[in-house]
Amino acid sequence: THLVFHDNSWAGRVTLREGEEGAGSGHDRPGMSEVRMEGGPLRCWVVAGTPARVLRGWTALTGSPALPPSWALGPQHARWGFGSGREVRRVVSGYRERGLPLSVLHLDIDHYDGHRVFTVDQERFPDLPGLARELREDGVRLVSIVDPAVPAAPGDAVFDAGRAVGDSGAFVRDGGGRIVRGEVWPGECVYPDFTDPQVREWWGGLYAERLAQGFSGVWHDMNEPVSFAAFGDPTLPRSARHALEGRGGDHREAHNVYGLAMARAGYEGLARLRPDERPILFSRSGWAGMQRYGGTWSGEVSTGWPGLRASLSLVLGLGLCGVPYSGPDVGGFDGSPSPELYLRWFQLGAYLPLFRTHAAIGAGRREPWEFGPRVLEAAREVLVERERLRPYWVTLARLARLTGAPYVRPLWWGSPGDRALRDCEDAFLLGDALLVAPVLGPGLCERAVRLPPGRWYDTVSGAVHEGPGQVVVEAPLSRVPVLARAGSVIPVRGADGGLELEVWAPVEGRGGGGSVVRDPGDGWEEAVVERYTSRL
Ligand code: GLC
Repeated sequence: THLVFHDNSWAGRVTLREGEEGAGSGHDRPGMSEVRMEGGPLRCWVVAGTPARVLRGWTALTGSPALPPSWALGPQHARWGFGSGREVRRVVSGYRERGLPLSVLHLDIDHYDGHRVFTVDQERFPDLPGLARELREDGVRLVSIVDPAVPAAPGDAVFDAGRAVGDSGAFVRDGGGRIVRGEVWPGECVYPDFTDPQVREWWGGLYAERLAQGFSGVWHDMNEPVSFAAFGDPTLPRSARHALEGRGGDHREAHNVYGLAMARAGYEGLARLRPDERPILFSRSGWAGMQRYGGTWSGEVSTGWPGLRASLSLVLGLGLCGVPYSGPDVGGFDGSPSPELYLRWFQLGAYLPLFRTHAAIGAGRREPWEFGPRVLEAAREVLVERERLRPYWVTLARLARLTGAPYVRPLWWGSPGDRALRDCEDAFLLGDALLVAPVLGPGLCERAVRLPPGRWYDTVSGAVHEGPGQVVVEAPLSRVPVLARAGSVIPVRGADGGLELEVWAPVEGRGGGGSVVRDPGDGWEEAVVERYTSRL
């Protein structure tokens, strides 16, 4: 495998053509990729080798992935339209009363006062710090949405403070020196220029307000950046000026790195303000290297079977681009999923790094109990399994940081020369040990799975399958098929909450093993990688 990085943030177009074999005629057509950029330097990096080596090289070049604290690897619930603190409590107790694990709850723009960033609607959330404390005692963290656009309104504290930053203020200006205005949720808005280090420092300081409200993490949104437009690009004008770290330039060069620079501002701000805890954020927009600050999510993936399928491609693709922490809006962002679609999405999401249900304000409910008793039972099962595997997730996060290898990997990760595996986009490896074969279509109760080389066990029935090859496995509505690699050692949470090792019998004469990294907490402690081997 090889990875080609065109280190150029301007707009461009990439054309990919797959190679074709000439069926013995000797006229093979090689694969081709063509890149045309609208400006910027010709600066290109190539990393070649096994997938593991390529990802290691990539993170050496663009940075190691941030390490989510353990709580960010648990089940998460969000919704645009949480109208009040009472509504938040109702959802959290809904999870608790039914014995469903929940680790994080997200507050969307509805908790803002008039959709203005870094504010709280005091009528609907009269004591947010108190609510955050109460939830935290119950094991649930709060995460806040943060949008970059600031209302263009004198009297708005962020607008006023932004205008006083440095010599010319924090907000993006046009060539004539006027502040550029756009339209976002609060109405007419202006945009911080995150490509200016002074602006990043000022913006990062604003997260003190979020921490004081009791939030544990942040969710960056609308940072392409968006300006609603009836026609044309729904973003800033191409002529808008940016600092670009002092070099100066315009939005044609800054557009693609706007979200990345915002992530840097947020991450560095949180690290300064709360030095004893690792920051975690995820961002709708980003660029090469965003993994240093956190992850991303699907954005507004459409409710429907194609959206479910796209959710997996997205996480696999991002992992190969060095961004291992991501996931979809489980259930799709818009519309109302059928119980079956919701459950299949939930089952897939439970095996992806960022496991979060989310939906638009007018969309149907996403709580697991809204789809009938069968769905609730199956959702409970996969939630409990997600939590049982938490030590494995913690280990995968640490290994991603150390080596660049994503948690979620394509089936060809260990055998990139196998064309049949390369064509397979409907299953994935979770670390070295597990192969997850989600159901991505309606009405199915079994599915074909293509196996990488080696022996694989069905983790429920214990059935043995030998790879490489293809097998058919049972996939009843109640569960997602998961296979374990022979010989693997998987850290899991035992019944008493302590760490246990789950070992799958190796093939005789061929050993196996696995790494285990115990969670040293939410700070900056170095972790120890324990290495286990198995032999028969
Ligand atoms: C955008 C985001 C979505 C969020 C909404 C309201 O549409 O993609 O996740 O819920 O804004 O903030």
